[in-house]
Amino acid sequence: MHNNLRRLSRIAFASVEAGAGIGTAVIEARKLVKRFGAREALKGVDFEASTGELVAVIGPNGAGKTTLLSILAGISKADGGEVHVPEGEVGWVPQQAALYRRLTVEENLLLFARLERHADPGASAEEMLELTGLGERRGEVVARLSGGNQQRINIAIGLLARPSVLLLDEPSVGLDPRQRARLWEFVSALAETNGTTVIFSTHDIQEAERYGGRLLVLADGEALFDGSPDGLLEAVRREASEAADRDFETAFVAFLHHRGH
Ligand SMILES: Nc1ncnc2c1ncn2[C@@H]1O[C@H](COP(=O)(O)OP(=O)(O)OP(=O)(O)O)[C@@H](O)[C@H]1O
Ligand SMILES: [Mg+2]
Repeated sequence: MHNNLRRLSRIAFASVEAGAGIGTAVIEARKLVKRFGAREALKGVDFEASTGELVAVIGPNGAGKTTLLSILAGISKADGGEVHVPEGEVGWVPQQAALYRRLTVEENLLLFARLERHADPGASAEEMLELTGLGERRGEVVARLSGGNQQRINIAIGLLARPSVLLLDEPSVGLDPRQRARLWEFVSALAETNGTTVIFSTHDIQEAERYGGRLLVLADGEALFDGSPDGLLEAVRREASEAADRDFETAFVAFLHHRGH
């Protein structure tokens, strides 16, 4: 239940921090600082995203990706800086799905819709079953579903409130290539068709290049780069030219190395 309560607490934060965005950004953070004891997990990170943008957050283990996403989601509080989130909902899809494994797909969706105090939980659950293509699995107990289908329910729960911004922490981990393709097809369609702003973290650099219209590179709590995949290759050409013509992942690793990570 712990994770679910954390998930719900984002609603309270979102309404407290809701404010007029600056410029065209739908979600915005300025000079974010987060400390865990003496460790600074975020050291003054600036970030913003506009309607319909797909942004990949990449960087080594411990870079601060989850910390940044959880602050944007409102489930964790920054120690410094500002966060502006849109009126209404920010959807949060944590890396570990907080599902009730002994309940069915439909029961999970209904439960979360009730917890989020939807006026008509049945209609909301139905809408999500349709949107995610889980309709025919509605009666199945979650524990018996494949990892990919469990991840789809995890995302469906993040989408229950039809958020204008969807944050996903390493959503494709453990999915086979076909399930990954389906995941990204679905997520890209949300951005294109509904104008949902999607911000996701990943260790799959190819995936970031392919699906992230923009890349935010974090390392040791600092933003090293924010721009298009082509822009990152430009930076590699300038800073680590020997790797610029290699594959994207090799170029990325060379870029991090050049910056001391
Ligand atoms: N609850 C916590 N208590 C103490 N330290 C934490 C906590 N959460 C994160 N940290 C520290 O903050 C830093 C950033 O962690 P974070 O989980 O954001 O990294 P990440 O980029 O998501 O890494 P990964 O790729 O491994 O998921 C790390 O040094 C981590 O040890
Ligand atoms: Mg993480």
